[in-house]
Amino acid sequence: MNNINNSKKLYTRAKKYIAGGISSQIRVLEHSEVPLFIKNAKGSKIWDVDGNEYIDFIQGMGPNIFGHAPDFINKQVSEEINKGMIYAAQFDKEIEVAEKSLKILNTKDWTVRFASSGTEIDQLLIRLMRGFTNRQLFVKFEGHYHGWMDSINYSVHPDLELAGDKSNPEAVPESKGMDENTKNGVIIARWNDIEHLRDIFKKYDHQIAGVLMEPILANTNCIIPDDGYIQSVKKLCEENGSLLAFDEVITGFRILGGSAKEYFGVTPDLATFAKSFAGGFPIAMLAGKKEIMDYVGNGTVYHGGSFNSNVASIAAANASLDEMIDNKNFFEDLDKKGKKLISGINKLSKDLKVNIHAQGLGSVFSISFTNKDHIRDWRDHFINCDETKYKYFCQIAFHKGIRLSSNGRVHLATTHTENDIEKTLEMFKLSLLEMKKN
Ligand SMILES: Cc1ncc(COP(=O)(O)O)c(C=O)c1O
Repeated sequence: MNNINNSKKLYTRAKKYIAGGISSQIRVLEHSEVPLFIKNAKGSKIWDVDGNEYIDFIQGMGPNIFGHAPDFINKQVSEEINKGMIYAAQFDKEIEVAEKSLKILNTKDWTVRFASSGTEIDQLLIRLMRGFTNRQLFVKFEGHYHGWMDSINYSVHPDLELAGDKSNPEAVPESKGMDENTKNGVIIARWNDIEHLRDIFKKYDHQIAGVLMEPILANTNCIIPDDGYIQSVKKLCEENGSLLAFDEVITGFRILGGSAKEYFGVTPDLATFAKSFAGGFPIAMLAGKKEIMDYVGNGTVYHGGSFNSNVASIAAANASLDEMIDNKNFFEDLDKKGKKLISGINKLSKDLKVNIHAQGLGSVFSISFTNKDHIRDWRDHFINCDETKYKYFCQIAFHKGIRLSSNGRVHLATTHTENDIEKTLEMFKLSLLEMKKN
């Protein structure tokens, strides 16, 4: 067992001054007895204040695509911030970042806007869908996460007791204190079922501004939708004059092809990006068709923000995108590495006769405990995945030096080595054997 006495002492002190001792609620769910306090981190590794080393698969919940503290990003950031931090004006690197990101996204007629977090940029996306179409309603799917704001923080991981009938899901708020009126603007749907969505479009005939989704459901089992689903959703949107919007906060600048747009070969009207985009620095981006983005461009749909396109984040994004463009196999290499881990985990499942299950893409995937070989939506996850067992597994793995996220999502970084993958599989094996004994 790792000794985490220094973390315990700091947690007691933190609770005196910081609400709950933490700055984002998910951090309370670390698999140690108390939230972990970190001394430093580099590449694939992280060290806590008690000197314990972990191979880190949380990686900041996704942003650290190059691992912790990448030298090449830090170098460019420190050079740029010596000139200034926030200008409340434009500068040339911002244009470079826009050009390079659109190159990776493989678009010609798109423009972008920058912000600082995924939550924030998804708010702009929703406002723009409404502003452009002059319609108030939008579709949000169960099991999908688009940040913690009132307008959208519904039915992320709802208890099925509260979630209503599967043909007519209820909007279940994720928090107390949310503005109840926001419920009227959101239609909750089950994902990965085109007939269900067709019924919704029939019911709300030409009233839907847009359909927002994680095109690969990274926040629930990293689900890749059924063949043809995304294409059919796009067609439905077109037939109804509604916009299709992808939340690529996790998938963007990470998965094979660099985006779900490229992975599926389906171009949405709008898409949001954040996390991996700037190798750990806070940035977010809304991108989309020029005719729609022009509503933001001319101020019809208002967007502001003091920290938008700040020098540090833009410099980090610039360095990060250069690396993705210059290294022709960037996304393939990351994908391959993760797929080794996925197949290793699924092999352990067979060899040891335990129901651990990995699914998703290589660069980001999900671990759960289930007897099914494929989970296809939130309700399927709720009924078939044993979260208590996953938590127990993570607690054991934690004490063997493997740091996993509380929601099952595994983030690969370019700095995870072959050795890290092998050691992780070995520690997983020991953890599963220990679970079997108890
Ligand atoms: C798909 C998705 N969208 C939006 C967000 C919100 O991003 P942020 O935490 O930067 O506000 C997240 C965060 O995990 C996410 O996974």
